[in-house]
Formats: sequence, C-alpha cells, structure tokens
Amino acid sequence: MQVCVIEGDGIGHEVVPAAARVLWLVAPDIEQKPAEAGWDTFQRVGTSLPDATLDLAIHCGAVLFGAAASPSYPVEGYSIPVVRLRRTLQTYASLRPAGYLHVPAARPGVDLLVVRETTEDVYVGREYTRDEGRTGISEKVITRAGSERVAKRAYALALETGRHRVTIVHKASVMVQSDGLFRKVAFEIAEHYPEIQTDELLVDTAAYWMVKDPTRFDVLLTPNLYGDILSDMAAAYSGGLGLAPSLSLGAGVALAEPVHGCAPDIAGKGIANPTATILATALLLRHHFQRPDAADRIERAVRTVFMAGGYTADIKSDGALTTQQFTDRVCDIIAAE
Ligand code: NAI
Ligand code: MG
Repeated sequence: MQVCVIEGDGIGHEVVPAAARVLWLVAPDIEQKPAEAGWDTFQRVGTSLPDATLDLAIHCGAVLFGAAASPSYPVEGYSIPVVRLRRTLQTYASLRPAGYLHVPAARPGVDLLVVRETTEDVYVGREYTRDEGRTGISEKVITRAGSERVAKRAYALALETGRHRVTIVHKASVMVQSDGLFRKVAFEIAEHYPEIQTDELLVDTAAYWMVKDPTRFDVLLTPNLYGDILSDMAAAYSGGLGLAPSLSLGAGVALAEPVHGCAPDIAGKGIANPTATILATALLLRHHFQRPDAADRIERAVRTVFMAGGYTADIKSDGALTTQQFTDRVCDIIAAE
C-alpha cells in the first residue's frame, strides 16, 4: 500500500510532515512517496502539477495533500493543482466533518458532516470573457451521473457512520436547470434509504442556520461551491480552520487534505496547527484503507492533547505549542498506548 505525499506551498511544508510522521507511527507498512505541486513548483518548472506527480498519485490511489498558493488573478498556464487532482482522480465526494473538539472556540453539540460534490459545478474551469473583457462568464455544470454518485455516497456514509438525516442543499429556485437537477437526483437516491430522513434547504437559509444553530445539522449534501463555503463555516465550530480535515473519495481512490489553505501569513514560522492534516490522515485510514483502529488511535491522541490544554497559537496565544511540539505530544501518546 502506498500514499503519495504532496506538501504544496506555505504551511504545507510544516503540517504535512507532521501528519506523515503520525501516519508512519500508526501504519508503518503504508509506503509514503513524496511528490511536488503548487505555486513554487509552477515558478520552477512551468506547471503547478507535474506529470510525474499526477502519475504517482494515480499509481498510489491515495494522496495526502497540504495546500497550494493560488493567485486570485489570471496567470497564463497556472491551474489550481488540487482541483485538477480531484478531477483527474475523480474523487467526487468530499467529506468534511465538523465535530466538537475540546478547544476554547468550539461549540458543544456540533456533530455534522458536509458531503460536497467535488468534480462539477462552477469549478469545472469553463471560464471566458466576452465584450473585450467587460463580461466574465463561468459555466456551472451539474450532471445526473455526478449528482447520483455523490448522493449515493452521502447516504451510504450516513448509514455507515450512524447518522440519521441528510439535508440536501441547493438553490434550485434560481438555478432550475443545474441545482434543480442536483436536487431531483438527490431525492431519487433518498428513496432507496428509507431509514435515513431527508430534508432540503436553500443554500442561503442553510448558511443562516449554520451560523444560528449548527447543532441542527447531521449530514449536508451539497454541490461543489456551496459545500466549499458551508464547510469553512462549519469549521469555525470545531475550533477553527486549523482543525478542519477533509477527505475526497472516488472509486477506490482518496485524497486527504486540510480544509485550510497554505496560510502565507504564518508560513515558515513553525507555528501552524497540524491538527486538520493529522485528522485528514485519520479519515484516509478509516474510509480508504479500512483501518478504523489506526484512525481511532490518531483521533484519541489528538483529543487527549487538547484535553490536557496542549494548543497551537491559532487556538490559544499564551503558552502555545509549536507545530513540532504539538506533533511530539500526539506521537508520544500514540507510542505510549
Ligand atoms: P488560509 O486557509 O490559508 O488561511 C486563512 C487564515 O487561517 C489565515 O489567517 C491563516 O493563518 C489561518 N490558518 C489556516 N490554516 C491554519 C493552520 N493550520 N494553523 C494555524 N492557522 C491557520 O486561507 P487564505 O488566506 O484565504 O488563502 C491563502 C492561500 O491558500 C491562497 O493562495 C489560496 O489560494 C490558498 N488555498 C489553497 C487551498 C488548497 O490548496 N486546497 C485551499 C484554500 C486556500
Ligand atoms: Mg475551501
């Protein structure tokens, strides 16, 4: 068994080695194969995702990804590596759990799972301008096949993880053809899972409830863009972006990554919180490698460090642990079990 390990840019160089260390401790037989991607790679070799990286990711079937810096303006030849990776590997369902962790900013009672479609919607990259640049157009693409497979995955995961309700999130009232199709297909799949309750919310109402009372959610099934936004909102309730993991699943392939980006404001200081990436590794072990025991060991160790007040600077400023110190504590607990 192998996993392709891509640090990316910025704090990816700090949080990915931390998670790789934890992974090695609980699963030394999973071979870790390093590869490069991101903005720095683009500057050096002219592509953000070299063929060698893509080939290795496909070969391994499992990827641990940090984050890549992407400019918010067009750059000739640049494409966001993780978006291309997800599309190439067809990891179509991104799991983003937000549960209560013992940290000061967390909200007790929150235990939700966002299942976000990750290959379609406005992220397909069909963008162009008209009227000599005075009009910008992004196409929103939703297919029956894409909606069906992510809905099936969401219901299967709900069953697997003992959850009871799926909320379908959309804006079908405005985007009748695209979100309307997603909604219709999701309700069709729901009929095959009578043991799971199904309801629906317009995305703006879902955002309102995510702020007002996130404890009302169980599983949220969303198209790509809404899931991207709602999962960052949900991350606030588990204590912050530094704690929010994600796993994109496809047919026998998986890509684990933190929800956060490469955090250029703190990169290189050794203070980034590795929790999100460490917990993403636990998700990879649980849902891809089918090793729930190893995943439990990681999650237990992280919880134990928090219970003892071990926090990085994003959680608590005085007496904060560095990335290295936090990871040492997690590893010590795992090793002592
Ligand atoms: P960001 O998630 O990198 O940072 C937002 C804020 O959260 C910053 O203040 C940062 O210091 C803090 N933060 C994030 N992760 C943290 C951690 N592990 N520990 C402690 N603090 C943490 O989002 P931002 O600033 O909007 O984007 C920065 C760059 O990251 C951009 O170039 C963006 O394109 C890229 N990005 C890449 C993603 C990916 O590759 N999957 C996802 C999101 C953003
Ligand atoms: Mg995001």
